[in-house]
Amino acid sequence: MDNLKRIIRQYFTDEHILPIETQEEHSQTLPIVEEEEEEESKAPPSPSSTTPPIISENKKEESPMPKKTETSNFIIPIPTDPALLALYNECKTCKACELCDSALNLVFGDGNPQADIMLIGEAPGADEDEQGRPFVGRAGTLLVKILNKYGVQREDIFIANILKHRPPNNRNPLTAEIAACTPFLRKQIDIIKPKLLITLGNFSSQYILETKVGITQIRGSIQESSYGMVMPSLHPSAIIRGAYPVALLEGDLVKALQYVGYDVTIEE
Ligand code: URA
Repeated sequence: MDNLKRIIRQYFTDEHILPIETQEEHSQTLPIVEEEEEEESKAPPSPSSTTPPIISENKKEESPMPKKTETSNFIIPIPTDPALLALYNECKTCKACELCDSALNLVFGDGNPQADIMLIGEAPGADEDEQGRPFVGRAGTLLVKILNKYGVQREDIFIANILKHRPPNNRNPLTAEIAACTPFLRKQIDIIKPKLLITLGNFSSQYILETKVGITQIRGSIQESSYGMVMPSLHPSAIIRGAYPVALLEGDLVKALQYVGYDVTIEE
């Protein structure tokens, strides 16, 4: 059964190229500078003969937060590693902030529990919320495409976010939400023990590195943090909206792969 799920998951991860996301300015609640986050408004993928079985979850009743209007038609990844599974179950019942009321699904993070590289984004967007899986929209597709170019599969790494539920309308995470959610991230990192964290974009980079320096200045540098070794890089959504050339993100990812021991060099 686990194998079947894994196969379906793998198929699904690489399968979807979704419609154009739009960008939105956020009201800042933390001293984060320079980068906007993505807003993704997309139609759900059309069903096909290969569509996996439907698993719906998180149906909620009354809430002061925006109402959920959808349920998930996707297989939600559930960790097989016992320590991660215990953390997932803890996270699933967490009520420390209100995002669990407005989000469709928990986006715990997924990938290899023994990964050398762990990617950390900001928070789930619409696609991630719907699928219960981080970086499955256009930004994730770009990220995975770059990694695949160097022989790295999504399943080789672990991907998570600062927040595990989508903030309504993709607004910036609130300080209280970050405080409530980051203990889960820290525990995830402690369990996985990656050789290198790659923080994507200003938000996660500045949070993890406890700095206000903008991402364009710190990207590509490998630094110590209280979470372990970190390389901040550009958020793939910033590349998609044309703010930076893809070569910068690709160069950083290759550097990160080299750092953890991959024998790779930049391909033209
Ligand atoms: N952007 C993020 O920061 N995280 C995701 O999971 C998707 C988009």
